[in-house]
Formats: sequence, C-alpha cells, structure tokens
Amino acid sequence: MKKPKVFLSWRFPDPGPQLVMEHCETQVWEGQAPIERTQFLSVLADVDGTLVSNATEQLDRKAIDAAPRLRCISNFGVGYDNVDVPYATSRGIAVCNTPGVLTETTADHAFALLLAAARRIPEGIIHVKEDRWRGWNPWLLVGREVNGATLGIVGLGAIGTAVARRARGFGMSVLYWSRAPKPHEESETGAVYSSLQFLLQSSDFICITVALTPETRGLIGAREFALMKPAAILVNVARGPIVDRSALYDALHDGTIFGAALDVTDPEPLRGTDPLLTLPNLLIVPHTGSATDRTRSRMSELAARNLTAALCGERPLHIVNPEVLQI
Ligand code: DGY
Repeated sequence: MKKPKVFLSWRFPDPGPQLVMEHCETQVWEGQAPIERTQFLSVLADVDGTLVSNATEQLDRKAIDAAPRLRCISNFGVGYDNVDVPYATSRGIAVCNTPGVLTETTADHAFALLLAAARRIPEGIIHVKEDRWRGWNPWLLVGREVNGATLGIVGLGAIGTAVARRARGFGMSVLYWSRAPKPHEESETGAVYSSLQFLLQSSDFICITVALTPETRGLIGAREFALMKPAAILVNVARGPIVDRSALYDALHDGTIFGAALDVTDPEPLRGTDPLLTLPNLLIVPHTGSATDRTRSRMSELAARNLTAALCGERPLHIVNPEVLQI
C-alpha cells in the first residue's frame, strides 16, 4: 500500500521524525528559521498530513484551502489557536495536539518567571555583570514576598492546576477564575473560585494560563490593570494576545503594577527595538515554557503518534475534533 505523504515543518527532536518516517513518505523542513508562508502553502498542496509547530505555522482557511488532500494537522504543542478548527472540521481534517506531557514543565516555568520577577533576579544579574555592585545596602533590589502571598490563576486547566499545586508549597493562597467552578481541582489544590474582578483586586501575583479564544483575546486591558494592586506582578505563560500590549506598557511604565514576566508576547517574535523592552520591570523570555529535553522529546513522540494514527485509520491519542473520525 502507498504510504501517506507528510510534511514536518521543523526537524523536531527525536523520536518523532523517526516514528513518522516508519509509516509515511516524509519531507522535513531543515531550515533554522520557520518555513516561509508561500513555501509552506505550496508544500501543503501535495500532502496527506502535516506536523507543525503551533507557534510558527498558521493553518487558517487559506492554508487549509491550499491542501486539498490534507487529512491531519498534528500540532507540536497543546494550544491550537494556530488552526481554524471549525473549518478543518468541515473539511474532515483531524486536528491533534500534545496535552499532558508538557503540563508540569510549563508550570515549573510559570513559577520560575514568578519568582524571578518577584525577586528581581534579571535586574540583579545585570547589576553584577555591568559592574554596578558596590556592596550590600538595605535598599538594593528589594522585591516582593512570594511565600504567604495570594496567587490568582486565570484559567484553571491542567497547567493552571499544576501552578496551583506549586503555590501550595510556597504557602500561598490561591484564587482562580475560569468559565465555571472546578470542584475536583479545588479539592486537589485548595484553590478558591472567584470572579475575575475580585481575583484582579485581591491577588499579589496573577498568572495567566487560559487558552486564547475569541473570548479571551484582550481579556487583560487597561480596565483590568486598573483593578490590580500597585504591588501586583503579572505572569503570562498562555498566549500574548490575551494581554493588551499597549495597556501592559502603560501599566508597567506608570507603576499601575509592580512588574510582569512573560513567556509569550504579541507579536512573536518581539523585535529588539520594541518599546516593551525598555521597561526595567518587565521580564520576557522567548516562548520556552515547554523547553526541556525530556518534555520536547515527549511532545515529539505524541505529535508523531497522533499524526500516524490519524493517517493509518486509527484513533489518535489526542484529537481536538473527534467528530471527524469515522471510528
Ligand atoms: C504549547 O504547547 O501550546 C506551547 O505554547 C508551545 O507552543
């Protein structure tokens, strides 16, 4: 039987590419930068499936229209805001993702950002490296206390819940907001359901872990920053467009809040000339929430297994739109 033809938009870590190659005729983009959009569209014209990064390839209506044979879009990542899922579903295309395997790693990362911003670690590093360290003084780089503080989690999914578990270890009180209360996660973590307004007003740290949807785009804007405590620190490990970038700039510049730490920005990548980078109280890392060797290899394996299962008539382990399956 003829093998399905697939395209991998990166040389993903092992073992995914090898697993795909066992079942499919495979073309891999070997570039160091993402494949250019026009080239991506022309490659899609001739494939049955594709394994892509949700951070670099957009599978919108135009891309899907460019792919008449496409049967599976397998995302290397848990988010799928890069795919027009309703349109893919209307075309019978399976959309797969990699939840679970990156939950704990991303929660570790959220906590690393929270601690770094609270204790002003990046500023301390620059202070020493730039030879500005002239000895101890009681006012030097005084930050915010994490232990005993209140953490507000926006979106208590798997990653939010894992962040809440970590917060318990720091003796923090945890509030959360999501579409509906989550009794199971509450009993596991001690997190307390709250309105978004109460959470913003009461939290010392606000951690965004909600998915990007039309409803959450711009969820945190000028009005929401105005509700926060002047000592608050915002952490975003979800998606950049959930936070309005000009409201973020103003809130940090004017001292409406104390600081922010972002794993994700709007747009990505952020250019070195971006005004946000002039803010000393803003810490940004380049969308590396799941970037550990073990997690990246698990994501690779899961994304590859999802792709080959969908193309070989089996049920993928994680499918976003199971209604397209005939099995
Ligand atoms: C995800 O898994 O969605 C991460 O943001 C990586 O893109």
